Order: sequence, then C-alpha cells, then structure tokens
Amino acid sequence: MSNQNLMSLIFEDARTHRFFSEKPVPGSLLKTLYDTVKFAPSASNTCPMRILFVTSDPAKAKLMEAVGDGNKPKVQTAPVIAVVAHDMEFYKHLGTLAPHLDADSFAAQGEDKLRMQANNNTWLQGGYLILAARALGLDCGPMSGFNPAKVNELFFADSSWRASFLLSLGYGSGDNIRDRAPRLGFDEVCKIV
Ligand SMILES: Cc1cc2nc3c(=O)[nH]c(=O)nc-3n(C[C@H](O)[C@H](O)[C@H](O)COP(=O)(O)O)c2cc1C
Repeated sequence: MSNQNLMSLIFEDARTHRFFSEKPVPGSLLKTLYDTVKFAPSASNTCPMRILFVTSDPAKAKLMEAVGDGNKPKVQTAPVIAVVAHDMEFYKHLGTLAPHLDADSFAAQGEDKLRMQANNNTWLQGGYLILAARALGLDCGPMSGFNPAKVNELFFADSSWRASFLLSLGYGSGDNIRDRAPRLGFDEVCKIV
C-alpha cells in the first residue's frame, strides 16, 4: 500500500461507523491490534491503557446496562466493543516498562494525580488504537455516551481498571453514515511563532 493510500485509510476516507455488518472480527486480529498499538507513546512509557474486548452475547448484554439509550442500537450491531480503560495501578509495571523510575514514589502521588496520568495517557493511546484499527482494515465507532461508573461496577469491581471510553470495532455496514462535518481551518486553530 502506498503512503498516500495508508493516509487515506487512516484519515481522509476514514469515517466514524455506528452500524456494522455481521462479518466477525477474529480474536487473532484483536491480538494483532494490541501488538500494533502497544508501540504508541505514553509519558515515561507508563502504558496505562487496558482493553476489555466485549464480544460474547452475555458480556454485551451486561455492557448494555451501562450504555446510553442513543448508543444501544449501535453497540448491538458491533461484533466487538472495546472498553478502553486506564489502570490506576499502572505503576506496578514500572519495573518492566520504566525501570529508571521509582514505583513507590509514583504510587505515593495520591489518587488524583495517578488518575490524571492514567487517564490522559490512555486517551492518547486510545487515539492510536483507532489509527491502528483503521490501518488493519477495521472500522471504528468511539463512544462516550455511557455510564463509566456502571461499567466499572459491572466489569472492574475487583480490579484497578477504570473505563475511559467505548470503541465499537468491526466492518461498517455503511448504514447511517452522516455527512462529513466540517473541520476548522489551519488559521483558526494553529499558530506558528
Ligand atoms: C471521544 C468520542 C466520543 C464519542 N461519543 C459518541 C457517542 O457517544 N455516540 C455517537 O454516536 N458518536 C460518538 N462519537 C463519534 C463522533 O461524533 C464522530 O467521531 C465525529 O462526529 C467525527 O465523525 P467522522 O469521523 O465520521 O468525521 C464520539 C467520538 C469520540 C472521539
């Protein structure tokens, strides 16, 4: 694939998909997706993003309890919904990921600072997750219309993972794709000094 085609696949021609075909997404592709996105940068290589791939009917039904009404039909058709989460205990892996850092001082920073670092870096890694999925031929539907506290209660009660956003993954059916909304121009959002 040429660089131009790859750029189109990831940016210019890529659209947010809300409805999906029945074509399944094999578990091996989800593994490839993680093995691709794991190279995304994060502050001090802390890598706080965690992903729960919801694929089974019982797990989907459980997730549905936490999804906003407007998003329920969208979640219904997606073969995979990734719960993109941040690990509040990400510092436990610093011995492997960033051995020059002191895990104990990280842990002592307090919950607010840990949450900010975990969540901010997860959002960054999550952006790369969308790009990686598109590069692998998948369509994506990010969603923040859900109740994170409910997801945490249903799926992460005994864990340090906390939901950041949901990402439908699959092969878009092409249904109800909205007209591309305008974007702001360079001069409106950028400055060169
Ligand atoms: C963080 C985030 C949250 C979103 N939440 C929802 C949502 O809850 N429901 C929905 O239908 N679309 C949601 N969207 C989709 C956006 O509306 C969509 O990506 C945007 O309008 C750009 O569309 P385009 O990629 O087709 O140009 C969300 C997108 C992002 C990145």
